Amino acid sequence: MCGIVGYIGPREATPVLLKGLHRLEYRGYDSAGVALVAPTGELNVYKCKGKVSDLERFLDGKDTAGTIGIAHTRWATHGVPNDVNAHPHCSESNRIALIHNGIIENFRLLKDALVENGYTFRSSTDSEVLVNLIEYIRTSNDCSLLEAVQQALKQVVGAYAIAIIEKDNPDRIIAARQSSPMVVGIGKGEYFLSSDAASIVEYTKEFVYVNDGEIAVIERDKPLKVVTLDNHKSRIDIKKLELSISQLEKGGYPHFMLKEIYEQPDTIVDCIRGRINEETLEVKLSGVIDNREKFLKARRIIFVACGTSWHAALIGEHLIESICRIPVEVEYASEFRYRNPIIYPDDIVIAVSQSGETADTLAAVELARKAGAFVFGISNVVGSSIARATDSGTYIHVGPEIGVASTKAFTGQVTVMAMLALTVARERGTISKEYHDEVARALIQLPDTLREVLKVGPQVESLAKIFTYAHHFIYLGRGENYPTALEGALKLKEISYIHAEGYPAAEMKHGPIALIDDEMPTVVIATPDHTYEKTASNIEEIKARGGRIVAVIAADDELVRRSADYTIEVPVITECLMPIVASLPLQLLAYYIAVYKGRNVDQPRNLAKSVTVE
Ligand code: G6P
Repeated sequence: MCGIVGYIGPREATPVLLKGLHRLEYRGYDSAGVALVAPTGELNVYKCKGKVSDLERFLDGKDTAGTIGIAHTRWATHGVPNDVNAHPHCSESNRIALIHNGIIENFRLLKDALVENGYTFRSSTDSEVLVNLIEYIRTSNDCSLLEAVQQALKQVVGAYAIAIIEKDNPDRIIAARQSSPMVVGIGKGEYFLSSDAASIVEYTKEFVYVNDGEIAVIERDKPLKVVTLDNHKSRIDIKKLELSISQLEKGGYPHFMLKEIYEQPDTIVDCIRGRINEETLEVKLSGVIDNREKFLKARRIIFVACGTSWHAALIGEHLIESICRIPVEVEYASEFRYRNPIIYPDDIVIAVSQSGETADTLAAVELARKAGAFVFGISNVVGSSIARATDSGTYIHVGPEIGVASTKAFTGQVTVMAMLALTVARERGTISKEYHDEVARALIQLPDTLREVLKVGPQVESLAKIFTYAHHFIYLGRGENYPTALEGALKLKEISYIHAEGYPAAEMKHGPIALIDDEMPTVVIATPDHTYEKTASNIEEIKARGGRIVAVIAADDELVRRSADYTIEVPVITECLMPIVASLPLQLLAYYIAVYKGRNVDQPRNLAKSVTVE
């Protein structure tokens, strides 16, 4: 999605801004631009459709001098991706430049009023409306830029993170936020601004998160000031963020996605660190222990999430219902928020989000809080909006995930859910010591298990070559491996653009079986579990209709091996954790098929890493 970078200080702003934009590229975008106040007093705005590298070429030979600037990557919402719709947008007088993430929902109304007042527009964006509204208020009320921003934002309905500079003031950036992330990085005599702390972490580790309804006034050589729309001063709360640059680079891998797939043994180590006692096997998630009573008395758990996080939540449902005996519902956050759902005060709503910024999940959190439920967050990004908006929660600690297709965050989320289930089940007395210890032991051994699983890499790579012809794929699994099938299919369609559907293996007979022929491969998760024989029969049904089968199986499997066309062997661990094991070969399969098809694996078309609009 859209990204914001800003800089004010002694350095030349352009290199800082461009580097920041490169770091934001992974989020998905279609145009980029930069605005600078030059030493000559000019407000220079350069923008174009395409990648940040296109912008860099466009900047060649232009006047890019200046120690204050704002820059943007745009993911089109209002208006096609082109040079004109790219940000920054200038006010009609060309004195104010603005960049904007989010959507101004009432932009038509505001635009009509501005048109009546003689304003004309160059782009089709909602963002240009906002910059002109600010200018209109400023000139008609003869007020300061800050006052104009405050008044304008009071008229805005929607989500935004904005940054503004003006021609007549080379010493100030104004930034504001409502439901879209924004952070100010504090350097020595300089400030950085971003919608994602990771893009500026090489310059500073100290950040101030701007909250909803707040405006940051970032002035050269002055302390940072944060005020509300009503001009009340907010407290400045500086947070430290420990992120290393190596976590943001490919480290020798051709793509972030492959790096992140291969990182999983290590990210699981980070995820379980300090949470499982290797001697007593006691599992402790402090967010759960600190709210023991809530979990003891929970009538129901409702997961809210989107995309891959929703798939992880479906696995969480299996884990919690079977181990803790608490009824669980799993909701798409986007549906939940508009459905007038029944939420009891003794419900626990668990929001699952890698980025912690997904607009629909954040809105679902707010809805659940208003309904009086206890809201728990499972997120990856420290200090993210969801982490801050929930009553309690836990981080998955898998490090920055840059590839748009989520991999290590998915396995981290499921691992955290398993630890949550064990912690709660022990408190509630719903799990036998033997089973508790079996799962805890499997979690401790999970990094080694995943190292073993990843040895299938070269085999999956050759398999992928065979399947680049396919236009459709079907993925089947049962029980907790039904979500694994959904996730496998999502990975493939996201990055290879091959149509893929995940189905519960038995449900396949109620429709998808009609599609089976020798051109549509079926990927089946057929590892040993309590429905293994049933899955094996489903495989026979597909074979009987000429389908080609790729099966994920255990090394000692004889039955499925005989019927499948291709098999991928994985180690077998306790059943409830098998989705973590089985998902790795599916990630690799999607990755290699996409690579063979020449796709942009890390930045697939139309997708965004963090969906901050609804
Ligand atoms: C986008 C990403 C997906 C992700 C989903 C939810 O669609 O491309 O990879 O699963 O958003 O994101 P979240 O950050 O809330 O987990």
